Amino acid sequence: MTSPIIVRTVAEMREHVRAWKAAGQRVAVVPTMGALHEGHLSLVRLAQQHAERVIATVFVNPKQFAPHEDFDAYPRGEAADAEKLALVGCDLLFAPNATEMYAPGFSTLVSVSGVSEPLEGAARPQFFGGVATVVAKLFIQSQADVAVFGEKDYQQLQVVRRMARDLDIPVEIIGAPTARAEDGLALSSRNAYLSAEERAAAVALPTAMKAAAAAVAQGARIDEAERSAVEALKAAGFGQVDYVEVREASDLSRLGPGPIGDATGRILVAAWLGKTRLIDNMAVG
Ligand code: PAF
Repeated sequence: MTSPIIVRTVAEMREHVRAWKAAGQRVAVVPTMGALHEGHLSLVRLAQQHAERVIATVFVNPKQFAPHEDFDAYPRGEAADAEKLALVGCDLLFAPNATEMYAPGFSTLVSVSGVSEPLEGAARPQFFGGVATVVAKLFIQSQADVAVFGEKDYQQLQVVRRMARDLDIPVEIIGAPTARAEDGLALSSRNAYLSAEERAAAVALPTAMKAAAAAVAQGARIDEAERSAVEALKAAGFGQVDYVEVREASDLSRLGPGPIGDATGRILVAAWLGKTRLIDNMAVG
């Protein structure tokens, strides 16, 4: 078991990348906000199938949190993250501080229109600007050939793809299947906020989502399937349901209200359980 090299500056990371590339090695980057779990480690393993060297980045990005959100409470633990990365043989951990990432006077925002606007973009208006800005920086800083993102944040994956394409950033973006607990709940660093009782109730989210996806795939009306999923979530103790929507899988345009027909759909859900906001999604059909 070899510990990853830990670097805090872009210059140091680039020195390593330069040496790897000079030796003919491909480099992958796995951007994260830390509090690593098995889902993140599965992204590193997938990255290792596409590149000889893998960088994991850990940076809790202040620009993607609104003032009322959980930036301060977001779980942090670099030593535990580094240990987990060592277990999967990750080569380098890039853990910059906020001023390395955003030097005084930083005033650029990468804004992706269209695919970033509905769903998470409507519920969290500052979110995708912050994500696109930090991910564009991580791509440019790391000069990675490949980047791996989880499908758990499906809309984020589509926004990042659009951003990299629009800005001609030469990185291949790979989406990785969502890692789930045995009962089906998607793994997320924010699951740590759930009480034991909430954790037991949380399984209603993947269950309701799966049932709605199956109903739509079998020809049910999209509006009815979405409504049933919302009712199931409420019955299980969820509070506000931000959205349950079946959307076109690549540009996230609205589908329905009737049957899905030949379209390729994705169902996306965001709902609150107590003080915790959970999101999930899956293919329809
Ligand atoms: O998915 C996340 O953890 C973050 O949004 C990301 C992509 C690391 C950007 O901060």
